[in-house]
Amino acid sequence: MDSRLEQKLNLLLESERAGVLALEELGREVEHEELRRFLAGSRAHEAANVRDLETLIRDHGGTPSEKTGPFAAKVAALPTVRERLSLLSRGQEWAARKTEEALTVAPASGPIHDYLSAMANRHRAEVEWGRAEVIRLLPPEA
Ligand SMILES: [Fe+2]
Repeated sequence: MDSRLEQKLNLLLESERAGVLALEELGREVEHEELRRFLAGSRAHEAANVRDLETLIRDHGGTPSEKTGPFAAKVAALPTVRERLSLLSRGQEWAARKTEEALTVAPASGPIHDYLSAMANRHRAEVEWGRAEVIRLLPPEA
């Protein structure tokens, strides 16, 4: 596997792993039932990405990273649930951009290209969905 591509896929893998942790921690603190379900859904998605990226890297001759990105600690450091949720949304945006970057060094077609395209789409959608859910589910700021 091309080493630039391997590096970019591993960055995504480490970030999705951090996303799972961040969503897990936040899910424990949120009291609103529907919001908690929403976070659990996102977490399941991130966990599936971790498994899929590991497989994709390994199947193409690369070595999946075992590290976890710094994102979960950044989220946990924020004082309010609202701030954590909005950082999560920005994290999805960051992941969408990094996925687009990985696409520029991936083969123009085939399984890696297809997976990354779908991953970029999902993350773009989750940015908007996440913001919309926060508006709907969290009480107005005092
Ligand atoms: Fe993600």
